[in-house]
Amino acid sequence: MRTITIKPTAITHNLNQVKKRAPHSKVLAMVKSNAYGHGVAAVLPALTQADGIGVATLIEALEARQLGWDKTIGLVEGAFTADEWQQAIDHEVSCVIHHVPQLEWALDNVPPAASATRVVWLKYNTGMNRLGFNAEGVIAAAKHLHAAGYQLILTTHFANADDITHPLNAVQIQRFKDMLATLKESVSNDVKGSLCNSAGVVNFSEHHYDWVRPGIILYGSAPVIDKSAQELDLQPAMSFSAQIIALQTVSANDAIGYGSRWIAQKDTDTALVSIGYGDGYPRVVSEDAYVSVIDSTNNRSYPCAVLGRVAMDMIVIDVSAVPDNTSLLDSKVILWGDAPHVDEVAAHAHTISYELLCRLSIRPKRVQA
Ligand SMILES: Cc1ncc(COP(=O)(O)O)c(C=O)c1O
Repeated sequence: MRTITIKPTAITHNLNQVKKRAPHSKVLAMVKSNAYGHGVAAVLPALTQADGIGVATLIEALEARQLGWDKTIGLVEGAFTADEWQQAIDHEVSCVIHHVPQLEWALDNVPPAASATRVVWLKYNTGMNRLGFNAEGVIAAAKHLHAAGYQLILTTHFANADDITHPLNAVQIQRFKDMLATLKESVSNDVKGSLCNSAGVVNFSEHHYDWVRPGIILYGSAPVIDKSAQELDLQPAMSFSAQIIALQTVSANDAIGYGSRWIAQKDTDTALVSIGYGDGYPRVVSEDAYVSVIDSTNNRSYPCAVLGRVAMDMIVIDVSAVPDNTSLLDSKVILWGDAPHVDEVAAHAHTISYELLCRLSIRPKRVQA
C-alpha cells in the first residue's frame, strides 16, 4: 500500500533543535503549503511549543484557526485584498505588509487595540527582490503604522542563506541591522525584528533577532548545503513507502519500462513497486537513485537501484543484491524516510526536498507513527 507516515515526535524534536540554536528568539513555525506536504492537522499538535505559525494564504490561516490553533498566525504575503484584510482582523491573523495597497488597507481599517492583527510584519526588501518596501518606503510605512497604533516587526527574507559563503548574505544582514536601528531610533524602540528562515537559524546564529521563521528544518530536511540532516541532528518527519507487487528476472540485453531506457547488462532480478509520479515520486530521477527494500523475514533494509523511467503508478528496482529475493512479494519499500533521506532523493531528481514534499498527491494513504 502506498503510504505517507508522519512522525509528530520528529517534528517536536526538530522544533527543539531550532529552540536550542535560537534560545532567545520566538519561533514562527512555517506550516504553509499544508505543512510542507505533511498535513497541517497532523503537524499542529507537534508544534504546541512554537510561539506561532506562518502561512502563505488566508485560507491556510483560517484552516489553522479551525483546527484550534489559538496562538499567533503570521500571514507571510499579507492580505491580497481589502476584504482579506478584514477577514484577517476577524480571525486575529497577523499580516505582512509589503506594499502600498496593504498599507492603505491597514491604515483605513485599524483593528481593535487588543487584536493580534495590530501586530504587523513590515517587509523590507534587502536584496531578494520579491516582496518588500525599499529603505525609504519602509521608514515611511513604519511611521504611519506606528502612528495608527500598530506594533511592528521588521522582517526580510534571505535569498541565499543555505550557502554561508554567498556574498549577498552579509549585505542583507547589514541592511536589516541598519534599518532596525533606524526604526528603533526614529519610530519606536519597541520595533522587533525577524530575519532568519531555517538556513539562517543554522548559519547566522548572531542574527536571530526576536522571531525566527523555520520551515524545512522542522520537517527534518537539511536547510544548508554543507551539512546533512544527520549532522544537524534532525529527524525525518515523513516516511514514504510502497510495496513490491511483482517479481521478474530480466534477461541480459532486454530493456525496462517506457522509452526502453535501461538495458540489462546481465540477467537481473527485478521487482515492481507500486509507486510512481502519480503519487509524487519524481519522474526525473538520475541513475543513482535508490529505494530501500525491507526484508520482512529479518527486518533488514537493502538499497536497491531504480531502473529505467518512473511511470505514473510503478517503478522497477534491482533486487539482485537482496538474499532470497524470490520471496520479496508484498515487501515494504521505502522511497524516502531514514534511508534514502528525502534530501538524497531530491538531489537525484535535481530539485529540493521542499518540492518533493509539497507535491505528494492525494493517492497515498496517510497515517501517523
Ligand atoms: C517569509 C518566509 N519565512 C520563512 C520561510 C521558511 O523557509 P525555510 O523553509 O527555508 O526555513 C519561508 C519559506 O519560503 C518564507 O517565505
